[in-house]
Amino acid sequence: MQVYVYRNEEQVAQAAAMIFASQISAKPNLVLGLATGTTPIPTYQRLIAMNREGLIDFSQVRSYNLDEYVGLEPNHPASYRYFMNAQLFDHVNIDKANTHVPSGLGDVEKNAEAYDAAIEEAGGIDLQLLGIGHNGHIGFNEPNPRAFIYKTNVVTLTPSTIQANARLFEKEEDVPRQAISLGIGGIMNARRIILLATGRGKAQAVRDAVQGDITPLLPASILKAHRNVQFLLDAEAASLL
Ligand code: F6R
Repeated sequence: MQVYVYRNEEQVAQAAAMIFASQISAKPNLVLGLATGTTPIPTYQRLIAMNREGLIDFSQVRSYNLDEYVGLEPNHPASYRYFMNAQLFDHVNIDKANTHVPSGLGDVEKNAEAYDAAIEEAGGIDLQLLGIGHNGHIGFNEPNPRAFIYKTNVVTLTPSTIQANARLFEKEEDVPRQAISLGIGGIMNARRIILLATGRGKAQAVRDAVQGDITPLLPASILKAHRNVQFLLDAEAASLL
């Protein structure tokens, strides 16, 4: 694991976007693993700007998002499909047919199984972008006292995650209680992982992930066992290291 500390979130975004650019230029049909949330928004804005400037070509890129809420239609403004379209896909030359977000509708267990199979068929994820939850979750893999969950699965969100995500809904009761998420195995299978963390609120989770033991109580701690992972942090997120 390599840890890079930048002055602010703009510099984190610039560094992350440069990694995307170099990987896509080396392999134009790169398979990206993408995240939603507040943290990657500046990175997506940099990618949009670089695409406009002709520095990144998404025409052959394929993408698989980490997660989606159970029960939200893709056109629900709080769904992760909606977020990805609004924050990135609508503004770059990616073919929407090549973008994938797990479906939280219908038989979600079946969708989960199909999602892992689809990623495998695409050749696996080349570059996985991650954020980190305050409780150390990655994707929606919440702390679990027993085990890391390997496969894409339906997860019950913790109260702290529901609270953290309530800002995107009218009221906290509207936040779905379940989500479908790429499992820890799916994340660890990615050939390269970059985790972004910004702000003081992430400092403890970052510290525990980087310096603590590997434990399913802090899902991001497993990343220490990956051979090609970089944490890109701003000074505040790195403040407890
Ligand atoms: C999002 C995801 C989550 C977020 C995490 C941090 O697709 O899988 O793990 O990365 O909850 O969210 P923000 O960036 O909003 O603090």
